[in-house]
Amino acid sequence: MNKFSWTIAVGLLGAAVAAHAAEEVKVGLMLPATGTYARLGTAITNGFKLYVDENGGMLGGASVSYATVDDESDPAKATENANKLVKRDGVDVLVGTVHSGVAMAMAKVARGSKTLMIVPNAGADELTGPLCAPNIFRTSFTNWQPSYAMGPVLLKKGIKRVVTLTWKYSAGLQAIEGFKESFTAGGGEIVQELTLPFPNTEFQPYLTEIATLKPDAVFVFFAGGGAVKLAKDYAAAGLKDSIPLYGSGFLTDGTLAAMGGAGEGLLTTLHYADGLDNPKDKAFRASYEKAYGAAPDVYAVQGYDAAQLLAAGLAAVKGKVEDREGMIKAMAAARIDSPRGSFAMSPAHNPVQDIYLREARGDINPVVAVAAAALADPARGCRMK
Ligand code: BEZ
Repeated sequence: MNKFSWTIAVGLLGAAVAAHAAEEVKVGLMLPATGTYARLGTAITNGFKLYVDENGGMLGGASVSYATVDDESDPAKATENANKLVKRDGVDVLVGTVHSGVAMAMAKVARGSKTLMIVPNAGADELTGPLCAPNIFRTSFTNWQPSYAMGPVLLKKGIKRVVTLTWKYSAGLQAIEGFKESFTAGGGEIVQELTLPFPNTEFQPYLTEIATLKPDAVFVFFAGGGAVKLAKDYAAAGLKDSIPLYGSGFLTDGTLAAMGGAGEGLLTTLHYADGLDNPKDKAFRASYEKAYGAAPDVYAVQGYDAAQLLAAGLAAVKGKVEDREGMIKAMAAARIDSPRGSFAMSPAHNPVQDIYLREARGDINPVVAVAAAALADPARGCRMK
């Protein structure tokens, strides 16, 4: 190569690198940084950023920047918060959130503005049910999924009469419905459905009622700080040994250390567990612990997988986020190599995944068995247009 053609070659290479580096994606992280779900929001953020950092600050050929908002798990502020990210900050993708009610308001903004949205936690059945849309994806679960898997577990133990207890908002109510569906189909009876407003944690009157009703077991949905308080109060009321407590795994994921032993032995069902024997989980856990000095939980996994899903979409369009149709096609077809075990998206854009039975031991939730293999949400009411 002579000097002239060498100069041109270097110039072209430089231009190619510059063009490559010019692809950008702006991610709007709408998550709780305060309130009862604050730790969940932090774990999701950590998981998402870990995957981006592992890939040199890039996702599928695009360099990543962030805009963030603390949604406070407050549905009343959700539309305004989502609009801030979409209209003021001009994000390409909305990632959020934890609370089902907040996520439903976000989804309406995403549908109206056609902004891509990835839900890294909120289980609202509607998001991949009646509110499903081509641009809305979830890397977590439906409220139905983990709870539905628990019905047969209790029936096999000979448990027939159950009292349920949860916060009165969509996540709790739908989780209880999921449990009820499989439990009553197998002959179980729901003796009483107890609810209290979110995020109240004055459990005493409900525990008194449970002691009076004397069911075979109690099934609950609680998460974050509320889950810690419930497990402690349940043990302190002397109920733990007489009326076994079960729940979806949000009860014990990321909460056991704060329970100070009150969660020991609790059986829960969830799409993640400790001690899963797969290389991806081992690598993820080592990487997370190195980055943050703490063990990851299900929320960190969901955040990590949200970044993986976005990377799959961007890689298919060479980092050009404006090719929304190309991204949606690739994301819908993606198989995510998740720490929970690999999963595919259902036609409604929700993970089809194994649900594990776990038993709390110390600060962790080791897997006991697969409670439901490759469980797909029924996606009732979803008309993908
Ligand atoms: C929800 O609101 O969908 C939710 C919150 C915390 C854990 C699981 C679900």
